[in-house]
Amino acid sequence: ASALPIFTQEEVTSHRSLEDGVWVTYKGAVYNITEFVAMHPGGDKIMLAAGGDLEPFWALYAVHKQEHVLEILAEYKIGEL
Ligand code: HEM
Repeated sequence: ASALPIFTQEEVTSHRSLEDGVWVTYKGAVYNITEFVAMHPGGDKIMLAAGGDLEPFWALYAVHKQEHVLEILAEYKIGEL
């Protein structure tokens, strides 16, 4: 069984800068993507989702609808909402 912690939305929202860490959520899971921000092919736009949910942004940028993107995201999972 997974031993990853449960976070509140408030904790996620408090992580929305490179200084404090950049956390996002996706389908109920929490990700610390701080290290990925500088590697993002779409540049700084990724910071629009900092502290919040990826889904509305990925709905706008369909380039994320591929298995490869979910594999990248999975590497940064730190817990559940
Ligand atoms: C492109 C990953 C969040 C906007 C990409 C690509 C990857 C990626 C792998 C390249 C896709 C390809 O060309 O095949 C991620 C991951 C994210 C994330 C893992 C979250 C952890 C976001 C957010 C936005 C965004 C929140 C917008 C608010 C874009 C744009 C491109 C892009 C505009 C296209 C760049 C271009 O081809 O010129 N992203 N992304 N991404 N992403 Fe993201």
